[in-house]
Order: sequence, then C-alpha cells, then structure tokens
Amino acid sequence: MSELLGFRAVEAGYGEARVLHGIDLAVGENERVAILGRNGVGKSTVVNTFLGVARLRAGEVRFRGAPQRSLQHFTAARAGVAVVLQGRHIIPNLTVRENLLLGAAVRRPGAWNLEGVFELFPVLRERADTPGTALSGGQQQMLAIGRALMANPALLVLDEPSEGLAPVIVDELAVVLRRLADGGTGLLLIEQNFGLVRRVAERYYALSKGQIVDQGRLADLSLAKLKEHVAV
Ligand SMILES: Nc1ncnc2c1ncn2[C@@H]1O[C@H](COP(=O)(O)OP(=O)(O)OP(=O)(O)O)[C@@H](O)[C@H]1O
Ligand SMILES: [Mg+2]
Repeated sequence: MSELLGFRAVEAGYGEARVLHGIDLAVGENERVAILGRNGVGKSTVVNTFLGVARLRAGEVRFRGAPQRSLQHFTAARAGVAVVLQGRHIIPNLTVRENLLLGAAVRRPGAWNLEGVFELFPVLRERADTPGTALSGGQQQMLAIGRALMANPALLVLDEPSEGLAPVIVDELAVVLRRLADGGTGLLLIEQNFGLVRRVAERYYALSKGQIVDQGRLADLSLAKLKEHVAV
C-alpha cells in the first residue's frame, strides 16, 4: 500500500491547548477510511493539523511518505490531498462557477475540470452563474466537493459532509462518494452519521479525547459499537 497521508505520534493543538495526544494513522492509495468520534474529540483538529491551522507540537505528518517540515494551506493540495472543510465554506460573493475555479488554484495534473464536475453534479451546471450561497445545503455540499475535485486529489478528505443534510440527500452523497472511490480517489471521511460511514468506508479510526481508542475494519465492527463511537 502506498501511503498518501500519515500521522506518527502527532501532538497538536491551538496555542497552549493540546487537543491531539499521540495520533498514529495512515491512509493509502484508493482506500476508504473513516474517522469516527463524538463532538469535540478533535476530529477537525486532525484536518487542521495537516492544513497548518492547528500547531503540530510533536510527531510527524507525512504526505506520500515524505515528512513535512512546514505545514501550510497549499502543501496538502500540492501533495494531492484536498479537503472539504466542515461547514462547506462556500465563498459568498462568488458564483458557483467561480467557487469551482477557486479549487483549481493549486492543482495536480488529472482528469477533473469544470466539465467533469458538471457531469457529476448536473445541478451545478444549471446554477453555474448564481451565487454559491444561494444554493440549498445539499447543493452547497456538492459544490464544496466539486471544488475539492478541481485540484485532482489522490485523497479527498471530507469533514462531516452530511451535517445538516436531509436523509435523502445523504443517500445521494453516499452514491457520489462510492462513485469517486470506484474511480480511484482515496477517501478520508470524518463522520458522525453511521449510515453514511457504513455505506462508504472500509476501515475506521475512532477518536476520543484526542486519542485513537479503536481501529479496524468496519465489517468487523458491530452496529452497536459503531453507534457508541459517534453518538452525540
Ligand atoms: N481554531 C480553533 N482554535 C482554538 N481551539 C479550537 C479550534 N478548533 C477547535 N478547537 C478546540 O479543539 C477541541 C477539539 O475540537 P474539534 O473541532 O477538533 O472537534 P471535533 O471532533 O471536530 O468536533 P465536532 O464534532 O463538533 O466537529 C475543542 O475543545 C475545540 O474547542
Ligand atoms: Mg469537527
């Protein structure tokens, strides 16, 4: 397995506050991995650490096996790791098309372009010239995913993509994520929606109070235990 993203003994936090206490994880090429955990356990801080938003205090973050000396917002994209941030972060004054083009600011060579994203999400083509924030919640999530794909990632990281979406839209999301994975994109899915996790991920890490307390294959995890890992 060729590793795309790796954490080794990572300690990270904000200012003096430590949030992550010794995190080890690895996501390989074309893997579908979930990070599970209740509110506030540090899931988004995992993302913030490799984006350079949280401070790496000790340990190592690797992209494609290479330890990173300085973590900046563009280093992940350059290494082929694209992130759909929690809350989507659609830029208010830009149209759907402009929001998508922003995703191509740091891109690797590859097949994704505007046309490809419009084929995946036809509604974005219909609404290409409307402000991104005029879309429904589900459409904004599609826009956020489309924007991340514009960078041609080898690994797509999604931080709670189902948050605030109706169940029927979460079903659509599951179909899209499986399609992306079948097309060769690795997925790191941070989620509390256990239904989405079961439909998309093969492997999981469970986080509690900034530590990995369980990991393995989802097929070996009972529904009761899965719910325990994500229950609010
Ligand atoms: N940008 C930040 N600055 C300072 N503290 C932060 C920041 N982001 C998160 N924290 C703190 O870090 C801890 C972990 O938060 P984090 O957002 O990683 O949790 P989470 O598991 O993603 O939670 P949720 O399920 O609510 O999204 C919390 O105590 C939170 O207050
Ligand atoms: Mg979070």
